[in-house]
Formats: sequence, structure tokens, C-alpha cells
Amino acid sequence: ENKNIAIAIDGPAAAGKSTVAKIVARKLSYIYIDTGAMYRALTLKATNNNVELNDESSLAELLRETSIQLKQSDDGQRVLLDGEDVTLDIRSQNVTNNVSYVAKHPAIRKEMVARQQSLASKRGVVMDGRDIGTHVLPDAEVKIFLIASVEERAKRRYEENIQKGFPSDLEELKKEIKQRDQIDSKRDVAPLLKAEDAIEIDTTSLSIDEVAQKILTEVSKKI
Ligand code: CDP
Ligand code: CDP
Repeated sequence: ENKNIAIAIDGPAAAGKSTVAKIVARKLSYIYIDTGAMYRALTLKATNNNVELNDESSLAELLRETSIQLKQSDDGQRVLLDGEDVTLDIRSQNVTNNVSYVAKHPAIRKEMVARQQSLASKRGVVMDGRDIGTHVLPDAEVKIFLIASVEERAKRRYEENIQKGFPSDLEELKKEIKQRDQIDSKRDVAPLLKAEDAIEIDTTSLSIDEVAQKILTEVSKKI
């Protein structure tokens, strides 16, 4: 008998969350929800509108009048910000460098978590982020916490950037990843943290398929 469950995947930057989440979702015919994309979309709009990123109430007001849609399509997930496709724009270095300052505000998190819970209310969902197992879906049947060394994570982003045709500096990437992990782990509300009942997988020396297989094994114990 098949059962539709919720799978929460958390972990630091570039641990491989979205890559394996998409594979797991496809294998199970579940929907995939990239919560980081939602924080990134708001960050893009805030910087485009010159909203001060320290100004929590202005950001919260901006979010209230902002529509963020995650659309499943054949070439992966598209992100629509007020109806406009911003799938590529939200991966810019500028958004990456600023997103953690937006995501640390309690009022922003409260609204984002409510939206994410509503997106996941119909089960059969794989959701990735930083606080999915701890706050967004505390009753998820499978919780995974992915980690990898910062050297390996920077190397993965570096190779990804070469493939995209935008070579970057490995040391810069390492610094940016460390900085973002630090802000995400140290914030007061819902910091990056392994849920007590999450299974930790160190992916430093694992392939994408090996990680996906480990998660699918955990899933098969539950469905
Ligand atoms: O894919 P990558 O690791 O670069 O980051 P992401 O998943 O797109 O998330 C971008 C940022 O959004 C994170 O660094 C966090 O600051 C924030 N975020 C969060 O606070 N909570 C989530 N559930 C997801 C993302
Ligand atoms: O979502 P998150 O920021 O955690 O990571 P990602 O965007 O999925 O990026 C991880 C990068 O590392 C991708 O380029 C993957 O191809 C690569 N990778 C991986 O995800 N898992 C491995 N075990 C090995 C490599």
C-alpha cells in the first residue's frame, strides 16, 4: 500500500539538498518545494526596490503584498515573483550574499513558514531548507540532515559555476558559504539545526545517487 508522506531535507549551503530532493521527488512522484527559493525571491524584490534589509517591518510589509509561486515544469522548478519568472535571477551572487539577512527576521520567517505549510498541506511532498524538520514540518515522517565539508561544498559550487559558464573564485566561494552558514546557524529564530529525529548523512565522499538511495531507503521503511 502506498502512503503519501512528508520528507524534510535540511542542511548547510551546497550540501546537495535541492539536487537530491528533486531526484527523490521524481522517483516517488511527489512535489518538490524549494523553500530557499522563496527567501531568495523576496531578497531579489527587496534589493530591486531599495528596501533596507535591516528594516524588518518594511520587509514584512513588502512580503505581504508579494506573490511567490513555485511551478513544477519539465525543465525543473520555475520560480515566479509577482507572476514574473525569476528562476535564474534569484541565483545571482548579490541575492546569495544578502538572503541570510532577510531570512533572519522573525516576521519574515513567520509568514514564509505559514506559506510553506500551506503548500505542503497535501502530502506527498519533499521540502528542503534550513528549518523544515524543526519548524515547518515537525511531523514529517522522514527527516534528513545533509552535511559535507566546507571544502567539498565550495568545490561543488565552483564546478557548478564552470558548467554554467560563470567561473568563480574557490576561496571566495568558501568564504561566502562559511559566512552564510554562520548567519543561518546563529540567528535567534529557527536557526539551521539538525532536528533530534533527523538522520544525518555526510555527503562529502558520496555521489548524488548514493545520497538519493540512502534517503529512498529511509522512505521505504515508512511507506
Ligand atoms: O541552495 P543554497 O544552499 O545556496 O541556499 P538556499 O536553500 O537557496 O537558501 C538560501 C538562504 O535562504 C539560506 O542561506 C537561508 O538564509 C535562507 N533559508 C532559510 O532561512 N530557511 C529555509 N527554510 C530555507 C532557506
Ligand atoms: O541545495 P544545496 O544548496 O544544499 O545544494 P545543491 O544546490 O543541490 O548543490 C549541490 C551541488 O553539488 C550540485 O552541483 C550537485 O551536482 C553536487 N553534488 C551533490 O549535490 N551531491 C553529491 N553527493 C555530490 C555532488
